[in-house]
Amino acid sequence: MARTSIVIDTDPGQDDAVAILLALAERGHLDLLGITTVAGNVPVELTTANALRLVELAGRADLPVFRGASRPLLRKLKTAEFICGPDGLQGAGLPPPRGAPRDAHAVAFLLDTLRNAAGKPVTLCPLGPLTNIALALAQEPALAARIERIVLMGGARDLGNVTPAAEFNFFVDPHAAQIVLQSGVPIVMFGLNATHQAMATPERVGRIAAHGTAVARAVTGMLERPRPGGKAKFGVEGHPLHDPCVIAYLLWPELFTGRDCHVAVETAGEASIGRSLIDWWGSQRQPANAHVIDRIDDAEMFRRLAQSLAKLG
Ligand code: BDR
Ligand code: CA
Repeated sequence: MARTSIVIDTDPGQDDAVAILLALAERGHLDLLGITTVAGNVPVELTTANALRLVELAGRADLPVFRGASRPLLRKLKTAEFICGPDGLQGAGLPPPRGAPRDAHAVAFLLDTLRNAAGKPVTLCPLGPLTNIALALAQEPALAARIERIVLMGGARDLGNVTPAAEFNFFVDPHAAQIVLQSGVPIVMFGLNATHQAMATPERVGRIAAHGTAVARAVTGMLERPRPGGKAKFGVEGHPLHDPCVIAYLLWPELFTGRDCHVAVETAGEASIGRSLIDWWGSQRQPANAHVIDRIDDAEMFRRLAQSLAKLG
């Protein structure tokens, strides 16, 4: 099977970290061309440093990291230290990066990569606010045709996590999310209704810990830290692995099912800003612009995730 060329656009974040490590572990299947960073879970200086720390952890300091947007298109940045800790990777126990990001801006790298992708379209994997992707699409809309598809984490069919209405990535930059959803690029969307099925329970984390590698120690440290509210609030122990679902989907699509829907993002409301409006029942009779994932074979996904991470030292 030919390797899929991908770019990960990310705001690490512990769940972003596991997604990046999974992609690096599966380099036989995924050709990761570069990592672009964006402000989200923590400011972009930290998400960039964290991307570098992760590639260095995985022995892939050669992989280029590009720093991207430091704030959303129109709104003030909202970060999530309350869940990720002050540096965004609480629990990982990683040293500061030795390397530095490349000189080019993330958006310039995205555009260059797409320009050079004539014969081999690229899959974009946004794991944070969609600011960089929206900027690239706005700058050269014609390059949308060079994107094979966008597989993203964002939105929610049901309740939000940062407000009652909105999921974090769409809430932070709703205007960017709307631009991406209107781009005409085929989209696969992992909202909270799907990713909350991917729970890193203590038993599942224990299977990763058993590898005893540096990667396993970092992942275990991140996933064993307490989740604010914990079981009393959510009814289940552990952190949801939102972002790894995106990479798992590229590797093992048979573990996921969903439905083609029209999706828009609320950009005008106050209480509802960032809400993903998923027309699950097709009542608006608008053409579908996203494949919205709904069900995950989570037991099998975690079994395969543990196996994959064991490939890293
Ligand atoms: C999303 O928000 C971030 O905090 C996570 O990394 C994930 O991308 C979940 O709402
Ligand atoms: Ca993220």
